[in-house]
Parts: sequence; structure tokens; C-alpha cells
Amino acid sequence: MPSILLTGATGYIASHTWLALQSAGFDVVGVDDFSNSSPRVLERLRTISGREPVFERADVRDAAAMQSLFQRHRIDAAVHFAAFKAVGESTQKPLEYYTNNIGGLLNVCQAMRRHGVSRFVFSSSATVYGDPESLPIREDARLTATNPYGQTKLISEQILRDLGAADAGWQTACLRYFNPVGAHESGLIGEDPRGIPNNLMPYVTQVAVGRREFLQVFGDDYPTPDGTGVRDYIHVMDLAEGHVAALRHLLDQPGSLTVNLGTGRGYSVLEVVAAFARASGRDLPYRVMPRRAGDVAACYADPSRAHELLGWRARHDLDRMCTDSWRWQQHNPGGFEA
Ligand code: NAD
Ligand code: WQD
Repeated sequence: MPSILLTGATGYIASHTWLALQSAGFDVVGVDDFSNSSPRVLERLRTISGREPVFERADVRDAAAMQSLFQRHRIDAAVHFAAFKAVGESTQKPLEYYTNNIGGLLNVCQAMRRHGVSRFVFSSSATVYGDPESLPIREDARLTATNPYGQTKLISEQILRDLGAADAGWQTACLRYFNPVGAHESGLIGEDPRGIPNNLMPYVTQVAVGRREFLQVFGDDYPTPDGTGVRDYIHVMDLAEGHVAALRHLLDQPGSLTVNLGTGRGYSVLEVVAAFARASGRDLPYRVMPRRAGDVAACYADPSRAHELLGWRARHDLDRMCTDSWRWQQHNPGGFEA
């Protein structure tokens, strides 16, 4: 079976993708520097899968470490998750973001080239669409960055297009994730942000479990049905299956691709709050606050290209996303380290 390198392997999305890949019969080699994740993820992966994770602790920018990793493991393709991802922080620390997100990608690609590996799946983001001109968003929509984090995704996509243009042997898949939420149904792994959560769902689960007093709803005066922001939330296990489908595609046929991974449905902040209250049986205190700088009113995908090219489609609904997020948070009120 093909062997897949996962960078950022103990992070939120990669850890779920690890399980999906193993279930699909792939071997996985994971690498992470734990800059934004816990080594305990590895124990949980072992418990769920019944297999010993093949893992190395390394910074993907470390050329010698990547060289040595490719020498010691058979690798047929890479899925590159490793990156910093906090939009607000990226405006404060642009150098760190450019160095890690672009430097890491370049170094992994260089190690791949040296070892004759040419299939690369990249974690891109709906952030590349900025403030969308029309909805739902298709892949050929105008691309723009409104912060350094988004800029790193645009530049990374461009680097991968340039690689493919220079050498048709390179096959790349840019997967533009919408808003990943939810957790593995075991409740053993899930999203565990450090400090105050930036994103809606982990904030909601931390309010429900008593770690935070109330949710701040950032704006109720958007031109949306209830005035709050609308997003395309996608279950992380559906997202994980999207990676399996993209890898199968790259391994089976020539060419590169760029696809949205979303459900195609938008939900408002208040709809998420209501769905979560149903799923958890808990009331969710919230207060309406001013808009958050940089937020757009609405953002949801046209996911039809991923269905046409990969045969992939999201299966889990919002209630299931909330149930699984809640199970994870309830069983791990302090996250992995508690
Ligand atoms: P995450 O922070 O949980 O996972 C990223 C992992 O990469 C972490 O475990 C971190 O320790 C590791 N890492 C970072 N820099 C590294 C380096 N130099 N060397 C080795 N490991 C390193 O984030 P996530 O939510 O799982 O996101 C994964 C990818 O998906 C990122 O590229 C992110 O930009 C992208 N993405 C995330 C979202 C989202 O909302 N979560 C949306 C769109 C795109
Ligand atoms: C969702 C909605 C907020 C928190 C971000 C990045 C994007 C991508 C995914 C990486 C919005 C509202 C949020 C809170 C709230 N990441 N909200 N109170 O902003 O769509 O996307 O994560 O690529 O690049 O920008 O996600 O979860 O932060 O917000 O009211 O405490 O919830 O205003 O309408 P967003 P989010």
C-alpha cells in the first residue's frame, strides 16, 4: 500500500486524516514539531487504530531532518498540513508566518524532489477568496489576501502551480478548506487550541464545558438572514476523507487539481449556537458584540468540482458536527494536556 508523509501530523485536521488514511489502507509517516499540538495525540491515535504510529518529531524547515526522514522511510506522496494558522496573530508576526508557512513548504518540496517523490497535497483555505464577490464560491473566483496568513496560502498555491508548470512530473492538489469543526466519533481526538480560541466552535464548546463565561457574537448587523456571519462548517472527518480522495486521484492519474472542500451550505452564528444547544442539552450564554475586524458577512462553497473530480461529498450535518465536537470537549474538558 502507498505510504503517505503527513506534516503537522498531530494537529487537528492531520490527526483525523491520519485515521482516515489508515482505514483506507494507506501507511502513514507523521512529522510534527509540537509547536501547536500535543504528543498525547499519538497515544490517542494508537488507542483508536490499534496500531503503533510511525512518527518523528521535527521542524519541517530543518533540511537535514527532512533529508534523513526521506532516507529512512518509503514515501509515495506527502500531505502538507504543517503551518501557523491564526489570522490575527499573522498580522502581528508576519515574519514568523512567512518563514514557517512558505519556508516549510519549500523545504518539504525540496526533500521530495531529491528523493523522487512528486505527489503533494496542500492544506489551502477559503481565506484565499477574501471577501467573495458572489456565493456560493467556485474555484475560479477572484483570489485575494486580506492578511499575512491568507497571503501565505496564496503564495503557496502559486509555488505549486509554478512547480507543475516547470515539470509536469509534479502532481499537486490544493484543497481549499472551508470551516472545519467536529471531532472523531470516539471523542478521543479533537480540536484543542492553545489559549483563547480564535474560532467559533472551540469557543462554543469551552463555554458549554464551563471554561468560558459566555460566547461573544461578533456582529448581528450583517446583510444575512439573522444579521450574524454565515459560514460553511464542515465535519473534520469529511475533510479527512477529502484528502483520501485527493491522494487516490493523484496516485491513479496524471495532472494537478484545486478544489473546495465544503458542504455548500452556510449557517449563521446563531444557527450554530442553537444546533449546539440541541446537541449538548446546555444553554449557551452569548452577548452580541461589535463586528470582528476582517470578517466577511457570508462565505460558503460550491463543492461540485470536488464531487466531479474526486467523487467526494461531505456527509455529516451540522447536528452531527455539534454532537461530535461536544463529545470531544465533554470527555476532555481541559484538552489533551489536562
Ligand atoms: P493545527 O495547528 O492543529 O495543525 C498544524 C500542525 O502543524 C500543528 O500540530 C503544529 O505543531 C504543526 N507545525 C506547525 N509548524 C510546523 C513546523 N515548522 N514543523 C513541524 N510541524 C509544524 O492546525 P489545523 O487546524 O489542523 O490546520 C492544518 C492545516 O490546515 C494548516 O495548514 C492550516 O493553515 C490549514 N487550514 C486550517 C483551517 C482551520 O480552520 N483549522 C482552515 C483552512 C486551512
Ligand atoms: C466563524 C463565524 C465570526 C468566534 C477562520 C479563518 C479562515 C480559516 C477558518 C484557516 C464568523 C463568528 C467567531 C467567536 C463569533 N482558517 N465568531 N464569535 O473567521 O470564518 O475563518 O477560520 O484557514 O482563514 O479566517 O472562522 O470560526 O473564526 O468564525 O461570533 O468567538 O463565527 O465572526 O462569523 P472564520 P471563525
